[in-house]
Amino acid sequence: MAFEYAPAPESRDVVDIKPSYGLFINGEFAEGSGTPFKTINPASEEKLAEIATATSDDVDRAVQAARKAFGVWSALPGSERAKYIFRIARIIQERARELAVLESLDNGKPIRESRDVDVPLVAAHFFYYAGWADKLEHAGFGRRTTDGHSGAKPLGVAGQVIPWNFPLLMLAWKIAPALACGNTVVLKPAETTPLTALLFAEICQQADLPPGVVNIVTGAGETGAAVVAHPDVNKVAFTGSTEVGRIIARTVAGTDKKLTLELGGKAANIVFEDAAVDQAVEGIVNGIFFNQGHVCCAGSRLLVQESVQDELLAALKRRLGTLRLGDPLDKNTDIGAINSAEQLAKIREMSEIGDSEGAERWSPPCDLPEKGFWFPPTVFTGVAQSHRIAREEIFGPVLSVLTFRTPAEAVEKANNTPYGLSAGVWTEKGSRILWMADRLRAGVVWANTFNKFDPTSPFGGYKESGYGREGGLAGLEAYLDV
Ligand code: NAI
Ligand code: MG
Repeated sequence: MAFEYAPAPESRDVVDIKPSYGLFINGEFAEGSGTPFKTINPASEEKLAEIATATSDDVDRAVQAARKAFGVWSALPGSERAKYIFRIARIIQERARELAVLESLDNGKPIRESRDVDVPLVAAHFFYYAGWADKLEHAGFGRRTTDGHSGAKPLGVAGQVIPWNFPLLMLAWKIAPALACGNTVVLKPAETTPLTALLFAEICQQADLPPGVVNIVTGAGETGAAVVAHPDVNKVAFTGSTEVGRIIARTVAGTDKKLTLELGGKAANIVFEDAAVDQAVEGIVNGIFFNQGHVCCAGSRLLVQESVQDELLAALKRRLGTLRLGDPLDKNTDIGAINSAEQLAKIREMSEIGDSEGAERWSPPCDLPEKGFWFPPTVFTGVAQSHRIAREEIFGPVLSVLTFRTPAEAVEKANNTPYGLSAGVWTEKGSRILWMADRLRAGVVWANTFNKFDPTSPFGGYKESGYGREGGLAGLEAYLDV
Protein backbone atom coordinates (compact mmCIF):
# COMPACT_ATOMS: atom_id res chain seq x y z
CA MET A 1 0.00 0.00 0.00
CA ALA A 2 3.05 2.26 0.08
CA PHE A 3 2.99 5.42 -1.98
CA GLU A 4 6.04 6.15 -4.11
CA TYR A 5 7.26 9.71 -4.16
CA ALA A 6 10.27 11.32 -5.75
CA PRO A 7 13.13 10.88 -3.28
CA ALA A 8 13.50 14.62 -2.60
CA PRO A 9 13.84 15.57 1.07
CA GLU A 10 10.50 16.66 2.47
CA SER A 11 10.26 20.34 3.14
CA ARG A 12 7.99 21.97 5.65
CA ASP A 13 7.14 24.51 2.95
CA VAL A 14 4.56 22.10 1.52
CA VAL A 15 2.32 22.95 4.48
CA ASP A 16 0.81 26.27 5.29
CA ILE A 17 0.62 26.40 9.09
CA LYS A 18 -1.50 29.26 10.34
CA PRO A 19 -0.44 31.16 13.47
CA SER A 20 -3.64 30.15 15.25
CA TYR A 21 -6.51 27.69 14.88
CA GLY A 22 -10.08 27.74 16.16
CA LEU A 23 -12.56 24.95 16.78
CA PHE A 24 -14.42 23.33 13.87
CA ILE A 25 -18.13 23.49 14.67
CA ASN A 26 -21.04 23.23 12.25
CA GLY A 27 -18.77 23.40 9.22
CA GLU A 28 -16.95 26.57 10.27
CA PHE A 29 -13.95 27.54 12.30
CA ALA A 30 -14.93 29.32 15.51
CA GLU A 31 -13.15 30.78 18.51
CA GLY A 32 -12.83 28.67 21.63
CA SER A 33 -13.85 30.09 25.01
CA GLY A 34 -10.93 28.59 26.93
CA THR A 35 -7.31 29.74 27.12
CA PRO A 36 -5.49 28.82 23.90
CA PHE A 37 -2.52 26.48 24.10
CA LYS A 38 0.42 25.99 21.78
CA THR A 39 1.45 22.94 19.86
CA ILE A 40 5.17 22.48 19.27
CA ASN A 41 7.46 20.52 17.03
CA PRO A 42 8.95 17.93 19.39
CA ALA A 43 12.08 17.66 17.26
CA SER A 44 12.98 21.32 17.76
CA GLU A 45 10.69 22.58 20.56
CA GLU A 46 9.70 25.40 18.19
CA LYS A 47 6.10 26.59 18.47
CA LEU A 48 3.99 25.59 15.47
CA ALA A 49 0.67 27.27 16.26
CA GLU A 50 -1.77 28.49 18.90
CA ILE A 51 -4.76 26.22 19.34
CA ALA A 52 -8.17 27.06 20.78
CA THR A 53 -9.39 25.35 23.92
CA ALA A 54 -12.99 24.18 23.89
CA THR A 55 -14.84 24.61 27.17
CA SER A 56 -17.90 22.55 28.05
CA ASP A 57 -20.05 25.32 26.50
CA ASP A 58 -18.12 24.99 23.24
CA VAL A 59 -18.45 21.21 23.39
CA ASP A 60 -22.17 21.70 23.89
CA ARG A 61 -22.36 23.82 20.73
CA ALA A 62 -20.47 21.13 18.83
CA VAL A 63 -22.79 18.39 20.09
CA GLN A 64 -25.85 20.45 19.18
CA ALA A 65 -24.47 20.96 15.67
CA ALA A 66 -23.83 17.22 15.41
CA ARG A 67 -27.34 16.45 16.67
CA LYS A 68 -28.92 18.73 14.11
CA ALA A 69 -26.77 17.29 11.33
CA PHE A 70 -27.65 13.75 12.43
CA GLY A 71 -31.19 14.30 11.18
CA VAL A 72 -29.92 15.15 7.72
CA TRP A 73 -26.99 12.74 7.51
CA SER A 74 -28.76 9.64 8.81
CA ALA A 75 -31.66 10.24 6.43
CA LEU A 76 -29.42 10.32 3.35
CA PRO A 77 -29.36 7.13 1.30
CA GLY A 78 -26.17 5.19 2.03
CA SER A 79 -25.07 5.71 -1.55
CA GLU A 80 -25.13 9.49 -1.00
CA ARG A 81 -23.15 9.27 2.25
CA ALA A 82 -20.68 7.08 0.38
CA LYS A 83 -20.08 9.82 -2.20
CA TYR A 84 -18.97 12.25 0.49
CA ILE A 85 -16.73 9.70 2.20
CA PHE A 86 -15.15 8.66 -1.11
CA ARG A 87 -14.55 12.33 -1.83
CA ILE A 88 -12.81 12.75 1.53
CA ALA A 89 -10.66 9.69 0.78
CA ARG A 90 -9.61 11.09 -2.58
CA ILE A 91 -8.76 14.52 -1.16
CA ILE A 92 -6.64 12.79 1.49
CA GLN A 93 -4.71 11.11 -1.32
CA GLU A 94 -4.35 14.36 -3.22
CA ARG A 95 -3.13 16.18 -0.12
CA ALA A 96 -1.13 13.22 1.19
CA ARG A 97 2.19 14.98 1.13
CA GLU A 98 0.89 17.96 3.07
CA LEU A 99 -0.76 15.69 5.63
CA ALA A 100 2.39 13.61 6.05
CA VAL A 101 4.68 16.60 6.57
CA LEU A 102 2.26 18.19 9.03
CA GLU A 103 1.94 14.92 10.94
CA SER A 104 5.71 14.55 11.20
CA LEU A 105 6.13 18.18 12.30
CA ASP A 106 3.52 18.01 15.04
CA ASN A 107 4.17 14.45 16.21
CA GLY A 108 7.90 13.88 15.63
CA LYS A 109 7.48 10.66 13.64
CA PRO A 110 9.76 9.98 10.66
CA ILE A 111 8.38 11.22 7.35
CA ARG A 112 8.91 7.76 5.90
CA GLU A 113 6.33 6.43 8.32
CA SER A 114 3.77 9.22 8.02
CA ARG A 115 4.16 9.22 4.22
CA ASP A 116 4.34 5.47 3.53
CA VAL A 117 2.27 4.00 6.37
CA ASP A 118 -0.01 6.42 8.19
CA VAL A 119 -1.45 8.58 5.42
CA PRO A 120 -2.01 5.75 2.90
CA LEU A 121 -3.78 3.78 5.65
CA VAL A 122 -5.89 6.82 6.50
CA ALA A 123 -7.07 7.06 2.89
CA ALA A 124 -7.60 3.28 2.80
CA HIS A 125 -9.87 3.46 5.86
CA PHE A 126 -12.06 6.12 4.27
CA PHE A 127 -12.23 4.17 1.00
CA TYR A 128 -13.04 0.94 2.82
CA TYR A 129 -15.83 2.37 4.97
CA ALA A 130 -17.23 4.47 2.11
CA GLY A 131 -17.76 1.13 0.39
CA TRP A 132 -19.92 -0.10 3.28
CA ALA A 133 -22.18 2.96 3.50
CA ASP A 134 -24.72 1.62 0.99
CA LYS A 135 -24.31 -2.04 1.92
CA LEU A 136 -25.04 -1.97 5.65
CA GLU A 137 -28.11 -4.13 5.24
CA HIS A 138 -25.83 -6.85 3.92
CA ALA A 139 -23.33 -6.57 6.75
CA GLY A 140 -25.10 -9.19 8.80
CA PHE A 141 -26.78 -6.87 11.30
CA GLY A 142 -30.29 -7.22 9.92
CA ARG A 143 -32.25 -5.26 7.36
CA ARG A 144 -33.76 -1.87 7.98
CA THR A 145 -37.54 -1.77 7.68
CA THR A 146 -39.28 1.12 5.91
CA ASP A 147 -40.13 2.72 9.25
CA GLY A 148 -36.42 2.57 10.10
CA HIS A 149 -37.14 0.85 13.39
CA SER A 150 -35.18 -2.32 13.10
CA GLY A 151 -32.00 -3.59 11.57
CA ALA A 152 -28.82 -1.62 11.34
CA LYS A 153 -29.55 1.87 12.63
CA PRO A 154 -26.94 4.53 13.42
CA LEU A 155 -26.51 5.44 17.07
CA GLY A 156 -26.61 9.22 16.79
CA VAL A 157 -23.84 11.57 17.91
CA ALA A 158 -20.46 9.91 18.50
CA GLY A 159 -18.03 11.56 20.93
CA GLN A 160 -14.51 10.47 20.03
CA VAL A 161 -11.29 11.10 21.95
CA ILE A 162 -7.98 10.13 20.38
CA PRO A 163 -4.29 10.05 21.36
CA TRP A 164 -1.15 11.59 19.89
CA ASN A 165 0.72 8.55 18.61
CA PHE A 166 -1.18 8.20 15.30
CA PRO A 167 -3.16 11.43 15.21
CA LEU A 168 -4.58 11.15 11.72
CA LEU A 169 -4.88 7.37 11.62
CA MET A 170 -6.81 7.26 14.90
CA LEU A 171 -9.07 9.98 13.50
CA ALA A 172 -9.70 7.80 10.43
CA TRP A 173 -10.38 4.70 12.52
CA LYS A 174 -13.00 6.67 14.42
CA ILE A 175 -14.59 8.97 11.86
CA ALA A 176 -14.77 6.73 8.77
CA PRO A 177 -16.98 3.96 10.23
CA ALA A 178 -19.07 6.46 12.22
CA LEU A 179 -19.97 8.42 9.08
CA ALA A 180 -20.50 5.34 6.94
CA CYS A 181 -23.09 4.10 9.42
CA GLY A 182 -24.93 7.44 9.44
CA ASN A 183 -23.67 8.90 12.73
CA THR A 184 -22.29 12.39 13.20
CA VAL A 185 -19.20 13.09 15.29
CA VAL A 186 -17.54 15.39 17.76
CA LEU A 187 -13.87 14.46 17.86
CA LYS A 188 -11.20 15.67 20.24
CA PRO A 189 -7.61 15.22 19.07
CA ALA A 190 -4.74 15.01 21.56
CA GLU A 191 -3.39 18.30 22.83
CA THR A 192 0.14 17.70 21.53
CA THR A 193 -0.98 16.78 17.99
CA PRO A 194 -4.05 18.74 16.90
CA LEU A 195 -2.84 20.03 13.54
CA THR A 196 -3.72 17.20 11.16
CA ALA A 197 -7.23 16.96 12.63
CA LEU A 198 -7.64 20.66 11.87
CA LEU A 199 -6.39 20.13 8.35
CA PHE A 200 -8.88 17.28 8.11
CA ALA A 201 -11.58 19.82 9.06
CA GLU A 202 -10.54 21.84 6.00
CA ILE A 203 -10.79 18.67 3.93
CA CYS A 204 -14.37 18.20 5.16
CA GLN A 205 -15.12 21.74 3.94
CA GLN A 206 -13.43 21.01 0.64
CA ALA A 207 -15.55 17.86 0.26
CA ASP A 208 -18.72 19.91 0.93
CA LEU A 209 -19.62 17.62 3.80
CA PRO A 210 -22.89 18.92 5.27
CA PRO A 211 -22.17 21.23 8.24
CA GLY A 212 -22.16 19.57 11.66
CA VAL A 213 -21.50 16.03 10.42
CA VAL A 214 -17.89 16.32 11.64
CA ASN A 215 -16.95 18.68 14.47
CA ILE A 216 -13.45 19.00 15.90
CA VAL A 217 -12.95 20.37 19.40
CA THR A 218 -9.41 20.95 20.64
CA GLY A 219 -8.16 21.09 24.21
CA ALA A 220 -6.72 18.81 26.86
CA GLY A 221 -8.28 16.22 29.18
CA GLU A 222 -11.02 18.54 30.43
CA THR A 223 -12.33 19.04 26.91
CA GLY A 224 -12.26 15.27 26.37
CA ALA A 225 -14.12 14.74 29.64
CA ALA A 226 -16.80 17.26 28.52
CA VAL A 227 -17.29 15.33 25.27
CA VAL A 228 -17.61 12.01 27.10
CA ALA A 229 -20.01 13.36 29.74
CA HIS A 230 -22.28 15.30 27.38
CA PRO A 231 -25.82 13.94 27.86
CA ASP A 232 -26.66 14.16 24.15
CA VAL A 233 -23.73 11.98 23.04
CA ASN A 234 -24.91 8.46 22.18
CA LYS A 235 -21.63 6.71 21.60
CA VAL A 236 -18.17 7.20 23.09
CA ALA A 237 -15.03 5.90 21.42
CA PHE A 238 -11.67 6.35 23.13
CA THR A 239 -8.09 5.37 22.39
CA GLY A 240 -5.45 6.20 24.96
CA SER A 241 -4.16 5.26 28.39
CA THR A 242 -5.77 2.58 30.53
CA GLU A 243 -5.96 5.13 33.32
CA VAL A 244 -8.14 7.56 31.34
CA GLY A 245 -10.05 4.60 29.86
CA ARG A 246 -11.10 3.66 33.40
CA ILE A 247 -12.27 7.21 34.14
CA ILE A 248 -14.31 7.20 30.93
CA ALA A 249 -15.85 3.79 31.69
CA ARG A 250 -16.97 5.18 35.05
CA THR A 251 -18.49 8.31 33.45
CA VAL A 252 -20.40 6.25 30.91
CA ALA A 253 -21.55 3.58 33.39
CA GLY A 254 -25.28 3.82 34.09
CA THR A 255 -26.03 5.82 30.92
CA ASP A 256 -27.29 4.28 27.69
CA LYS A 257 -24.19 5.43 25.79
CA LYS A 258 -22.37 2.76 23.86
CA LEU A 259 -18.64 2.60 24.59
CA THR A 260 -15.54 1.24 22.91
CA LEU A 261 -12.14 1.52 24.53
CA GLU A 262 -8.79 0.85 22.94
CA LEU A 263 -6.15 1.06 25.64
CA GLY A 264 -2.57 0.02 26.27
CA GLY A 265 -0.56 -3.09 25.61
CA LYS A 266 2.60 -4.98 26.47
CA ALA A 267 2.84 -7.32 23.53
CA ALA A 268 5.09 -10.36 23.41
CA ASN A 269 7.07 -10.83 20.23
CA ILE A 270 8.04 -14.51 20.41
CA VAL A 271 11.00 -15.87 18.48
CA PHE A 272 11.52 -19.64 18.19
CA GLU A 273 14.88 -21.25 17.44
CA ASP A 274 13.80 -22.27 13.93
CA ALA A 275 12.84 -18.71 12.89
CA ALA A 276 14.72 -16.98 10.09
CA VAL A 277 17.02 -14.76 12.15
CA ASP A 278 17.33 -11.81 9.79
CA GLN A 279 13.61 -11.70 9.21
CA ALA A 280 12.91 -11.92 12.93
CA VAL A 281 15.38 -9.09 13.60
CA GLU A 282 13.52 -6.87 11.13
CA GLY A 283 10.26 -7.80 12.83
CA ILE A 284 11.64 -7.01 16.27
CA VAL A 285 12.96 -3.64 15.08
CA ASN A 286 9.66 -2.80 13.40
CA GLY A 287 7.76 -4.12 16.42
CA ILE A 288 9.32 -1.81 18.98
CA PHE A 289 11.13 1.01 17.17
CA PHE A 290 8.40 1.88 14.63
CA ASN A 291 6.96 5.26 15.65
CA GLN A 292 9.53 5.49 18.50
CA GLY A 293 7.63 2.69 20.24
CA HIS A 294 4.63 5.00 20.73
CA VAL A 295 2.40 2.16 19.62
CA CYS A 296 -0.24 0.48 21.77
CA CYS A 297 0.38 -2.86 20.06
CA ALA A 298 4.20 -2.48 20.06
CA GLY A 299 6.21 -5.69 20.51
CA SER A 300 7.74 -4.34 23.71
CA ARG A 301 8.55 -7.73 25.24
CA LEU A 302 10.86 -9.90 23.18
CA LEU A 303 10.53 -13.55 24.18
CA VAL A 304 13.39 -15.47 22.62
CA GLN A 305 14.02 -19.19 22.82
CA GLU A 306 17.08 -19.68 25.00
CA SER A 307 19.01 -21.71 22.41
CA VAL A 308 19.10 -18.78 19.93
CA GLN A 309 19.30 -15.91 22.36
CA ASP A 310 22.98 -15.09 21.79
CA GLU A 311 22.80 -15.28 18.02
CA LEU A 312 19.58 -13.26 17.83
CA LEU A 313 20.72 -10.54 20.22
CA ALA A 314 24.03 -10.15 18.41
CA ALA A 315 22.20 -9.74 15.10
CA LEU A 316 19.70 -7.34 16.68
CA LYS A 317 22.45 -5.16 18.12
CA ARG A 318 24.24 -5.06 14.78
CA ARG A 319 21.02 -3.94 13.12
CA LEU A 320 20.30 -1.30 15.74
CA GLY A 321 23.72 0.18 15.05
CA THR A 322 22.50 1.04 11.55
CA LEU A 323 19.33 2.90 12.60
CA ARG A 324 19.38 6.65 12.07
CA LEU A 325 17.89 8.90 14.69
CA GLY A 326 17.21 12.53 13.89
CA ASP A 327 15.23 15.01 11.81
CA PRO A 328 11.76 13.54 11.25
CA LEU A 329 11.52 15.26 7.86
CA ASP A 330 14.64 13.51 6.55
CA LYS A 331 13.53 10.54 4.47
CA ASN A 332 16.48 8.50 5.80
CA THR A 333 15.45 8.88 9.43
CA ASP A 334 14.38 5.67 11.16
CA ILE A 335 13.77 7.04 14.65
CA GLY A 336 12.21 10.44 15.15
CA ALA A 337 11.49 12.55 18.21
CA ILE A 338 9.62 11.53 21.34
CA ASN A 339 6.27 13.27 21.17
CA SER A 340 6.46 15.35 24.34
CA ALA A 341 8.62 16.28 27.31
CA GLU A 342 6.14 14.37 29.53
CA GLN A 343 6.45 11.19 27.49
CA LEU A 344 10.25 11.51 27.46
CA ALA A 345 10.26 11.87 31.25
CA LYS A 346 8.14 8.74 31.52
CA ILE A 347 10.45 6.73 29.25
CA ARG A 348 13.49 7.88 31.22
CA GLU A 349 11.85 7.04 34.51
CA MET A 350 10.83 3.55 33.38
CA SER A 351 14.33 2.93 32.01
CA GLU A 352 15.89 3.96 35.32
CA ILE A 353 13.52 1.58 37.04
CA GLY A 354 14.83 -1.11 34.67
CA ASP A 355 18.41 -0.31 35.77
CA SER A 356 17.52 -0.39 39.44
CA GLU A 357 15.65 -3.69 39.08
CA GLY A 358 18.87 -5.22 37.80
CA ALA A 359 18.24 -5.53 34.07
CA GLU A 360 21.11 -4.68 31.73
CA ARG A 361 20.64 -1.63 29.49
CA TRP A 362 22.18 -1.37 26.01
CA SER A 363 21.92 1.28 23.28
CA PRO A 364 23.97 1.66 20.10
CA PRO A 365 26.29 4.68 19.96
CA CYS A 366 23.91 7.46 19.02
CA ASP A 367 24.22 11.26 19.03
CA LEU A 368 21.08 12.92 20.27
CA PRO A 369 20.25 16.39 18.88
CA GLU A 370 20.54 19.18 21.45
CA LYS A 371 17.07 20.60 21.02
CA GLY A 372 13.93 18.53 21.13
CA PHE A 373 12.90 15.30 22.88
CA TRP A 374 14.97 12.23 22.05
CA PHE A 375 15.61 8.77 23.39
CA PRO A 376 18.01 6.26 21.82
CA PRO A 377 16.83 2.79 20.79
CA THR A 378 17.31 0.75 23.95
CA VAL A 379 17.41 -2.95 24.78
CA PHE A 380 17.16 -4.37 28.29
CA THR A 381 18.41 -7.92 28.75
CA GLY A 382 18.21 -10.09 31.84
CA VAL A 383 14.62 -8.97 32.39
CA ALA A 384 12.46 -11.00 34.77
CA GLN A 385 8.68 -11.25 34.51
CA SER A 386 8.32 -9.45 37.82
CA HIS A 387 10.24 -6.38 36.60
CA ARG A 388 8.14 -3.31 35.98
CA ILE A 389 9.74 -2.92 32.53
CA ALA A 390 8.25 -6.33 31.68
CA ARG A 391 4.80 -5.48 33.00
CA GLU A 392 4.09 -1.80 32.32
CA GLU A 393 3.68 0.04 29.07
CA ILE A 394 6.72 2.27 28.47
CA PHE A 395 5.43 3.65 25.17
CA GLY A 396 8.91 4.42 23.92
CA PRO A 397 11.81 2.84 22.00
CA VAL A 398 12.64 0.42 24.80
CA LEU A 399 12.68 -3.36 24.39
CA SER A 400 12.62 -5.80 27.31
CA VAL A 401 14.15 -9.20 26.51
CA LEU A 402 13.05 -12.39 28.27
CA THR A 403 13.78 -15.99 27.38
CA PHE A 404 11.87 -19.28 27.29
CA ARG A 405 12.66 -22.96 26.64
CA THR A 406 9.39 -24.58 25.52
CA PRO A 407 6.35 -23.38 23.56
CA ALA A 408 4.20 -23.83 26.67
CA GLU A 409 6.53 -21.59 28.64
CA ALA A 410 6.39 -19.00 25.85
CA VAL A 411 2.58 -18.97 26.03
CA GLU A 412 2.58 -18.71 29.79
CA LYS A 413 5.00 -15.78 29.78
CA ALA A 414 3.30 -14.03 26.88
CA ASN A 415 -0.07 -14.19 28.64
CA ASN A 416 1.34 -13.10 31.98
CA THR A 417 0.31 -9.47 31.55
CA PRO A 418 -2.68 -7.36 32.48
CA TYR A 419 -2.96 -6.45 28.78
CA GLY A 420 -3.95 -8.44 25.68
CA LEU A 421 -3.80 -6.36 22.55
CA SER A 422 -1.33 -8.09 20.25
CA ALA A 423 1.43 -10.68 19.94
CA GLY A 424 3.92 -11.90 17.35
CA VAL A 425 5.20 -15.39 16.61
CA TRP A 426 8.32 -16.15 14.59
CA THR A 427 8.78 -19.75 13.48
CA GLU A 428 9.06 -21.70 10.26
CA LYS A 429 6.56 -24.24 11.54
CA GLY A 430 2.98 -23.58 10.48
CA SER A 431 1.44 -25.93 13.03
CA ARG A 432 3.23 -24.10 15.81
CA ILE A 433 1.86 -20.77 14.62
CA LEU A 434 -1.69 -22.14 14.89
CA TRP A 435 -0.97 -23.78 18.23
CA MET A 436 0.36 -20.49 19.61
CA ALA A 437 -2.41 -18.34 18.10
CA ASP A 438 -5.00 -20.55 19.82
CA ARG A 439 -3.42 -19.98 23.20
CA LEU A 440 -2.28 -16.36 23.13
CA ARG A 441 -4.77 -14.04 24.80
CA ALA A 442 -4.29 -11.18 22.38
CA GLY A 443 -6.65 -9.42 19.98
CA VAL A 444 -4.18 -9.66 17.10
CA VAL A 445 -1.55 -12.36 16.59
CA TRP A 446 0.96 -11.69 13.82
CA ALA A 447 2.94 -14.59 12.38
CA ASN A 448 6.36 -13.85 10.88
CA THR A 449 5.45 -10.18 10.65
CA PHE A 450 4.52 -7.40 13.06
CA ASN A 451 2.62 -4.10 13.13
CA LYS A 452 0.78 -4.84 9.89
CA PHE A 453 -2.53 -3.02 9.60
CA ASP A 454 -5.36 -3.18 7.14
CA PRO A 455 -8.79 -1.55 7.17
CA THR A 456 -10.49 -4.89 6.55
CA SER A 457 -9.21 -6.60 9.69
CA PRO A 458 -10.57 -5.95 13.16
CA PHE A 459 -8.31 -4.59 15.87
CA GLY A 460 -8.85 -4.54 19.63
CA GLY A 461 -7.88 -6.17 22.88
CA TYR A 462 -8.60 -8.38 25.85
CA LYS A 463 -8.44 -7.48 29.54
CA GLU A 464 -6.98 -4.05 30.32
CA SER A 465 -6.37 -3.39 26.64
CA GLY A 466 -10.03 -2.45 26.35
CA TYR A 467 -13.12 -3.71 24.58
CA GLY A 468 -14.88 -3.40 21.27
CA ARG A 469 -13.25 -3.73 17.88
CA GLU A 470 -12.24 -1.22 15.26
CA GLY A 471 -11.64 -2.00 11.62
CA GLY A 472 -13.38 -4.40 9.27
CA LEU A 473 -16.94 -5.52 9.63
CA ALA A 474 -16.59 -5.55 13.42
CA GLY A 475 -15.76 -1.85 13.26
CA LEU A 476 -19.22 -1.13 11.81
CA GLU A 477 -20.95 -2.85 14.68
CA ALA A 478 -19.49 -0.30 17.10
CA TYR A 479 -21.46 2.45 15.32
CA LEU A 480 -24.75 0.65 14.79
CA ASP A 481 -27.66 -0.23 17.00
CA VAL A 482 -27.80 -3.93 16.20
P1 NAI B 1 -4.14 10.00 27.76
O1 NAI B 1 -4.96 8.78 27.87
O2 NAI B 1 -4.14 10.98 28.89
O3 NAI B 1 -4.62 10.85 26.47
C1 NAI B 1 -5.35 10.34 25.40
C2 NAI B 1 -6.47 11.32 25.04
O4 NAI B 1 -7.40 11.39 26.11
C3 NAI B 1 -6.01 12.76 24.80
O5 NAI B 1 -6.79 13.30 23.77
C4 NAI B 1 -6.34 13.44 26.12
O6 NAI B 1 -6.54 14.82 26.02
C5 NAI B 1 -7.63 12.75 26.49
N1 NAI B 1 -7.97 12.77 27.92
C6 NAI B 1 -7.15 12.90 28.99
N2 NAI B 1 -7.86 12.85 30.12
C7 NAI B 1 -9.15 12.67 29.77
C8 NAI B 1 -10.36 12.53 30.50
N3 NAI B 1 -10.39 12.54 31.84
N4 NAI B 1 -11.52 12.35 29.83
C9 NAI B 1 -11.53 12.31 28.48
N5 NAI B 1 -10.41 12.45 27.74
C10 NAI B 1 -9.24 12.63 28.37
O7 NAI B 1 -2.67 9.57 27.41
P2 NAI B 1 -1.31 10.40 27.62
O8 NAI B 1 -1.34 11.12 28.93
O9 NAI B 1 -1.08 11.20 26.42
O10 NAI B 1 -0.24 9.23 27.68
C11 NAI B 1 -0.03 8.52 28.90
C12 NAI B 1 0.28 7.09 28.63
O11 NAI B 1 -0.84 6.45 28.06
C13 NAI B 1 1.39 6.85 27.62
O12 NAI B 1 2.63 6.90 28.23
C14 NAI B 1 1.05 5.48 27.12
O13 NAI B 1 1.55 4.50 27.97
C15 NAI B 1 -0.46 5.45 27.16
N6 NAI B 1 -1.06 5.74 25.85
C16 NAI B 1 -1.58 4.73 25.14
C17 NAI B 1 -2.10 4.95 23.89
C18 NAI B 1 -2.65 3.86 23.07
O14 NAI B 1 -2.75 4.00 21.85
N7 NAI B 1 -3.09 2.78 23.65
C19 NAI B 1 -2.09 6.28 23.28
C20 NAI B 1 -1.56 7.30 24.14
C21 NAI B 1 -1.06 7.02 25.36
MG1 MG C 1 2.91 19.01 18.67
